[in-house]
Amino acid sequence: MIKIAPSILSADFSKLGEEIADVEKGGADYIHIDVMDGHFVPNITIGPLVVDAVRPITKLPLDVHLMIENPDRYIKDFASAGADIISVHVEACPHLHRSIQLIRDSGAKPGVVLNPATPVSTIQHIIEDVELVLLMTVNPGFGGQSFIPSVIPKITEVRSLVNQVGKSIDVEVDGGVNPDTARQCIEAGADVLVAGSAIYKSRNRKKAIESLRDSM
Ligand code: DX5
Ligand code: ZN
Repeated sequence: MIKIAPSILSADFSKLGEEIADVEKGGADYIHIDVMDGHFVPNITIGPLVVDAVRPITKLPLDVHLMIENPDRYIKDFASAGADIISVHVEACPHLHRSIQLIRDSGAKPGVVLNPATPVSTIQHIIEDVELVLLMTVNPGFGGQSFIPSVIPKITEVRSLVNQVGKSIDVEVDGGVNPDTARQCIEAGADVLVAGSAIYKSRNRKKAIESLRDSM
């Protein structure tokens, strides 16, 4: 079963509550929240305050994607604000195992994220400790960018790593996901699709979610 995680980065922030209710009604599985600090990526977005405000208005798991330097400093804050899944970038964590452990100790599910140019071998030794692997299919920082097709073989690689481990670990993709690229990602082994503009720039969010899920 393919899960859909709408990214609120492309939502209308002046009515964020309605925007989240709309995708929840439309069949979304997770709410993807993009946290950016203006250092690790060139954009600044959301902090724990917003996660805290969103928590009571949806039953869906909050999938928090940290694109920040020194994420260890903020893991506890995001967990107490109500994040269900917290994912950190390999490129931002010199002590990756410790960061993952911090997420688990805070009560959230740990995820790990790879930029398009980062090889899968960097997560080989921590794969058993995470519940989700997120593969960036654009360089993180902004919504609405074009999908980078050279990431496809990495999806296959992560899928076989996950199968070897034999645990249920989500293989998630993020960036430039639309019905066409979604099909390629699912074929390669992804089972969670993050989509910002493909969902929020559509008038009918339910239809947009369905066409991603049924893209195969
Ligand atoms: C990019 C973010 C994505 C972004 C995806 O840095 O991590 O989650 O919102 O947006 P689209 O689907 O428009 O590429
Ligand atoms: Zn994201």
